[in-house]
Parts: sequence; C-alpha cells; structure tokens
Amino acid sequence: MTPWFGLVVGALPLMVVADHNLAARQSSAFITVNLDQKYQIIDGFGCSEAFQRAVQISKLTEAQQQYTLDLLFSTTNGAGLSILRNGIGSSPDMSSDHMVSIQPKSPGGPSSTPQYVWDGSDNKQLWVSQEAIKRGVQTIYADAWSAPGYMKTNGNDANGGSLCGGSGASCSSGDWRQAYANYLVQYIKFYLEANVTITHVGFLNEPELTTSYASMRSSGMQAADFIKILGPTLQKANLTVGITCCDAEGWNSQVGMLGQLASVDQYISTITAHSYTSSPGSPMNTRHRVWQTEAADLNGNWQGAFYSSGGAGEGMTWANNIHTAVANANASAYLYWIGAQTGTTNSKLIRIDGNTVTPSKRLWAFAQFSRYARPGAVRVGVRGAPSGVRTTAFQNVDGSVAVVFINGGTSAVSVQVKTTAGSSFTAAGTTAFLTDNNHDCDEIAASFNNATASASLPGRSIVTVILRQSN
Ligand SMILES: *[C@@H]1O[C@H](CO)[C@@H](O)[C@H](O)[C@H]1NC(C)=O
Ligand SMILES: *[C@@H]1O[C@H](CO)[C@@H](O)[C@H](O)[C@H]1NC(C)=O
Ligand SMILES: *[C@@H]1O[C@H](CO)[C@@H](O)[C@H](O)[C@H]1NC(C)=O
Ligand SMILES: *[C@@H]1O[C@H](CO)[C@@H](O)[C@H](O)[C@H]1NC(C)=O
Repeated sequence: MTPWFGLVVGALPLMVVADHNLAARQSSAFITVNLDQKYQIIDGFGCSEAFQRAVQISKLTEAQQQYTLDLLFSTTNGAGLSILRNGIGSSPDMSSDHMVSIQPKSPGGPSSTPQYVWDGSDNKQLWVSQEAIKRGVQTIYADAWSAPGYMKTNGNDANGGSLCGGSGASCSSGDWRQAYANYLVQYIKFYLEANVTITHVGFLNEPELTTSYASMRSSGMQAADFIKILGPTLQKANLTVGITCCDAEGWNSQVGMLGQLASVDQYISTITAHSYTSSPGSPMNTRHRVWQTEAADLNGNWQGAFYSSGGAGEGMTWANNIHTAVANANASAYLYWIGAQTGTTNSKLIRIDGNTVTPSKRLWAFAQFSRYARPGAVRVGVRGAPSGVRTTAFQNVDGSVAVVFINGGTSAVSVQVKTTAGSSFTAAGTTAFLTDNNHDCDEIAASFNNATASASLPGRSIVTVILRQSN
C-alpha cells in the first residue's frame, strides 16, 4: 500500500481494527490438511435423466434447455456434475415413461441373429450425454434396469423375474446370457458411433426389488454367472468399459452380495449401491472403487431451501449425506437420482414446471463438492474442525486442494486452512465459495497470507475453500 493511499483513505485503519475484532469474537479454528494421508480416489458426483426425464428437458425452450444443462454440468454456472447415469432400455415401447429397448422384439431365440433398432435418441439420453460431454463430463454410466422381457423367466421386463440361464433361472427358450451381453455391447457401440464413450456399464438395478416398472431380480451368484460372460464379451469387442455391480437398493444389501461376486472379481471395475433401504455408513470390504449411485428424497414436497428444519429434502441434509458417504463409507462417487424433471417431489435436484426451471439447494450442495473435487482427485486427511463443523479435503490432479466445510451450527466460525506434507505442493492463493439459504455456490471473501487461507463459515452453510498450487 502506498503512503498516499493510507493518508487519503483515513477510515482504512479503523476497518482493519474492526475486522480484527470480528475475527476475535468468532471462534477461530486452525485446519490442517495432510496431503500425505491419502484415502480414496474421487470419480465424481452425478445424477440420471433415465425414464424419459431427458425428454422432459428437451420439451423446454432452447434457452431453458441450455440453462438446465448448465445448472447440472457447468463447473462455472452450475453444479459441475461429472457423472451421468443413463438407463439402458428394456421395454418394447415408449409408452408412459418406458425406456425403449434397442431390440424391442425377440429375434426368435438366444442364438438367432439379433435385430437391433437404433432411433438415434435413446429417450433423449444421447442428447443429454452429448450436452454433458460439451460441459466436461467424461464419465457416462449406462445401467440396465432389466433385460428385455423375452430374455427373462417371467417374459416381461417389469415385475421382477430373472435373466434366463443363471443359477436357478432356466427357461424353455434357452440360456440368454450371451445374447444379453451382446446386446449391452451393441448399446455401447451405438453410443460410440455418436461419439459418446460409455465408461461404465451395469446390467442390474435394485436386483432385490420386484416392481411394476423395469426390474430384474438377481442374487450375487446370478450376477456372477452373467459377469463371467459379459467380461470376456467386452474384451473380445475391444471395449474398455468398466463393469459395475449391482446397484442394490441399499448399502447393506450390496455388502451381502460381495461374497458371491468373488469368483468374477477380475472382471469387476466398480461396486455400486443405492441409499434407500440402508445408506452408506462404513466402507465395504472390497478392493474396487465404490459408488453410491442413487439416493433421493422420493416423496417429500418440493423443498428449495438449504436449511429450514433439517428435513429430508433440504440442501444441508444432502451436504451431510454426501459427506458421510465420502468421509465415512469410502465412496468414490455420489449420485442423486434425477437431475431435472417435472413434478412436486424432491426426487430431482431441479424442478421443471412448464417452462420454468428452478434449482434446489440440493443442487448447490452437490456443487460445493462436484465443482472443486474433480474426477481423479484424492481425498486427503484433514484435522482441526471445531465441533459442529464437518470437513473433507481433496487434492485434485492439477495440485489444487479443496476443503469442504459444513457448518451445522447457527454461529459463524472463522477458519485458517493450511497444508502439511505433500512435498511438491506450495499454496499460492485461495478462493472460497458459499451455499446457504441466500447463496448458490457464490464466491466469498477469503484472504491468503503465509501459505494460509482464512475464511468465515456462516451458520448453517457449506463453504469450499480452495488452495491453489503455485506455478
Ligand atoms: C463423430 O466425430 C467425428 C470426428 O470428429 C465426426 O466426423 C462425426 O460427424 C461425429 N459423429 C456424430 C454422430 O456426431
Ligand atoms: C480387437 O483388436 C485386435 C487387436 O488390435 C484386432 O485383431 C481385433 O480384430 C479387434 N476386434 C474387434 C472386434 O474389433
Ligand atoms: C477404500 O476404497 C479403495 C478403493 O477405491 C480401497 O483400496 C481401500 O482399501 C478402501 N478403504 C477402506 C478403508 O476400506
Ligand atoms: C508462517 O507460518 C509458519 C508455519 O506455520 C509459522 O511458523 C510462522 O510463524 C508464520 N509466520 C508468520 C509471519 O505468521
């Protein structure tokens, strides 16, 4: 500062004193990020537009379509979600919200020549995938809720039933496992022809549930019976697509299937589970990355607030859910159910009502993680959070460090953040972003001095503090 400036702006010293007093009034916490204490790799955060929710986005005006897609996938104007979970269709038609199959009619039998049909749309999911990729998404997870009905014991893609040919699932029409593997390969190829690389493929969704929409039951043993065919089939097709299993309804039921998957461990890329019947609480005993692939407040009335009373649809609740999965249950990814759709429940992050598009604070809670803990980041150790504040820390591939604070208390807390270890890292600056009832991942004041970032965490908020790497 020049003497000239100090002389003219007489009020400045007073402001500095006032700031100092403010900092002294707030409890100040010293947060240390240990870059050498490494936990899981982060693959990302995401959502789905399955069951024709992508079609709902496509019915908006062009400007509102782009706004919605930015809210979901832009790292500057939205949540920066980095994983899109698509539904591989199994239905014979597109009535209601059915996801149509690429082989709507049986070709005759499991060894008949396949009769695939590609409509270039895939219930508008191809378009959403292309738009997501334009905004930087690189992880496209294609997941089938069921095989087509003619491949199953009950002859229907809905109402449970099992894939013909696995243990305890024999059918007079024969063993359809190879035909189903070929079918999934063909789906991946249709996307490749449209320049969309599917990186992960799943063949089950909630295999312990029989329901009126696309559903297929499977034990861990039956899943293994199929994976031992799908793995080599993908390899023969030269596709390096990771096989996921099994998108169980709850974390604990997925844990229960792990033992039966041991014989096909070499073919598995990622273990996947939902949060409905039990949510992620502790790590699964597996060497694979583990993704929480579906969670939502399915029934609560639309809740846009970050904090109101601690209800199931609030942004703070979802910030905490993500924190628990990542910090306590070793999750490498966390996906909400739907990104954007119509209707009055919280089953989506963004509400579409006519041509009006309204993001919830759930979306901005995702943004606080997804925009700054990018794919490939490693979760690292962090100490010193004061009581009532939950903290996770990540080091990105570009070296930058993101520290996410959830302040559950009503008072503001000031934090000073620095790193230790990580010999190649020298902090050179900071930025911080806030979501609360009045902010949507907005940049807030943060100072940087002596390799330490300082910021204030308002009561009932989530704040992400970034430490930039020096060049
Ligand atoms: C895919 O990419 C290639 C090469 O950039 C391009 O020529 C082709 O038109 C693209 N196809 C589609 C369906 O976008
Ligand atoms: C897979 O790659 C190998 C080696 O490059 C090649 O010989 C083979 O024809 C490829 N197979 C397919 C199905 O593309
Ligand atoms: C966390 O997951 C990784 C795989 O991503 C695994 O190697 C590691 O052992 C897991 N940690 C714990 C504590 O289970
Ligand atoms: C800068 O930080 C180092 C390490 O934490 C500390 O030892 C030193 O006293 C600090 N210097 C100043 C001027 O605050």
